[in-house]
Amino acid sequence: MMKYKFILLFFILLICVSNAEQKIFQKIHQNKIKREFSRSEFSELKSPEVDSSDPKWLRNMNYDQWISDMKNSFEHGNYSKWASSVNKQMNVEEMVQGVNDLYKSSASCIGCKFLVNMARIMMQKGKSNDQILDIGTKICNVFKIQTPRVCEGVMKIIGVDVVDVVRHSNLKGSQICRFFLGQPCVNGYAAQHDWNITIFPAKEPKIRYPLTKPSEKVPPLKILQISDTHFDPLYEVGSNADCGEPLCCRASSGAPNSTKSAAGKWGDYRKCDTPLILLENAIKHIVKTHKDIDAIYWTGDLPPHDVWVQTREDNIANLKFTSKLMAKYFKGIPVFPSVGNHESVPVDGFAPPHAPPHKNMSWLYDQLAVEWSRWLPTKTHETIRKGAFYSTLLKKGFRVISVNGNYCSRMNFYLLWNSTDPLDQLAWLSKELQSAEDKGEKVHIIGHIPPGGKECLKSWSSSYYDIIN
Ligand SMILES: *[C@@H]1O[C@H](CO)[C@@H](O)[C@H](O)[C@H]1NC(C)=O
Ligand SMILES: *[C@@H]1O[C@H](CO)[C@@H](O)[C@H](O)[C@H]1NC(C)=O
Ligand SMILES: *[C@@H]1O[C@H](CO)[C@@H](O)[C@H](O)[C@H]1NC(C)=O
Ligand SMILES: *[C@@H]1O[C@H](CO)[C@@H](O)[C@H](O)[C@H]1NC(C)=O
Ligand SMILES: *[C@@H]1O[C@H](CO)[C@@H](O)[C@H](O)[C@H]1NC(C)=O
Repeated sequence: MMKYKFILLFFILLICVSNAEQKIFQKIHQNKIKREFSRSEFSELKSPEVDSSDPKWLRNMNYDQWISDMKNSFEHGNYSKWASSVNKQMNVEEMVQGVNDLYKSSASCIGCKFLVNMARIMMQKGKSNDQILDIGTKICNVFKIQTPRVCEGVMKIIGVDVVDVVRHSNLKGSQICRFFLGQPCVNGYAAQHDWNITIFPAKEPKIRYPLTKPSEKVPPLKILQISDTHFDPLYEVGSNADCGEPLCCRASSGAPNSTKSAAGKWGDYRKCDTPLILLENAIKHIVKTHKDIDAIYWTGDLPPHDVWVQTREDNIANLKFTSKLMAKYFKGIPVFPSVGNHESVPVDGFAPPHAPPHKNMSWLYDQLAVEWSRWLPTKTHETIRKGAFYSTLLKKGFRVISVNGNYCSRMNFYLLWNSTDPLDQLAWLSKELQSAEDKGEKVHIIGHIPPGGKECLKSWSSSYYDIIN
């Protein structure tokens, strides 16, 4: 888990729900599938929500005092007063440690709620998004969560969109924390994120048990899976591999303070991504030693971890370059790609259709359709352009379905608005599987984010398992 995620979290936490969302929310339709959305939940937003189940200090903390201390401290370059007052209230060290396992540590949930409560008060006092972003950057700096340029860049690239999303969410603070962190946040159930999909058309499969093994004469298939190549075009041998940022080993990482800190020729096990020489040689080696590969599952995460400076253009260039490399070496071998969470800018942000139009994903999905068309039939373009998922035959009787797991990811902050089966992907999956079953096809489902994992939203996961089981 990269530390930038915590900065993101910090941010999410800092920004809160204003009172003005009702209008926007009225535009979002009622959930027709299982429940009516209760409008009474909006009224609670009128006053800062404080969970009675939260620790006393968290409920009673004088956030106003804290904020004014902070302001003074920032202006006079002396952080001790407010920093120590916060430290007294909570174990900041443990919180910062908790960053490394966001989904396990209850400290990350306390930290989340602390900041949400604080941000709520800031919003009530009419603070603008820029002022909140600014405080976010300062907190990131003061707690040395990242270097100043990373703090600032993350706020600019990721924070801006997170502000936008949280501003238009109707959720309480505890519900927001529960959405992003899951398990560690015991409270914060939100009915709108608890949904089921109706499985289409819910026919019982005609499978006879026990299943019979294929005969020995049936030749096995050899499938190569490649994932998370994270090719870094700016990797530089000899640069600082121990730079304290989410990504090192670049000229911009500064000079190494000893030969031990210098980036190696073939890459580096510290905070570094993949140099071209490693990627290219690994592929060449595979081609040489495995001449009988039947197909490749290529499960995403192509760009490097420089999420605080990344641009859409960078990521598209990386997609084009890496796709070309794959095609060059794996000549004539079918490749079945999936999209990872790093393909988007901001990282993890894959806007569903209810997001504002200018956030639409066509900049990425149209390009995926183009690059993937090397290996996939034109029939797949429609769903790729819609949501970066597709279904196609690997060979007769054997289907590959590639899903876009970013629509189940807790880190996909756009889903805070509405996480109900984004783009009807699960409904589509259930139809595809039914049709495959009707035709007697076998199916592999590939993707980047595993359903059932901590990062995947519970409703999406359980609906997924309902479908495949
Ligand atoms: C979320 O979006 C779906 C359509 O994708 C809609 O059916 C549902 O009612 C929405 N849920 C809420 C809580 O607005
Ligand atoms: C910082 O402020 C505190 C009081 O808030 C004071 O006791 C301390 O001396 C100050 N430190 C510096 C370095 O100015
Ligand atoms: C979804 O389905 C599960 C299992 O059938 C059930 O336990 C749960 O209550 C359902 N959730 C909703 C929101 O309907
Ligand atoms: C070199 O840098 C690393 C990490 O930035 C640090 O832990 C270490 O103490 C430094 N060594 C010296 C000799 O400055
Ligand atoms: C998608 O966003 C781009 C800008 O990124 C815009 O040019 C385009 O018109 C948008 N498309 C739709 C369908 O809203």
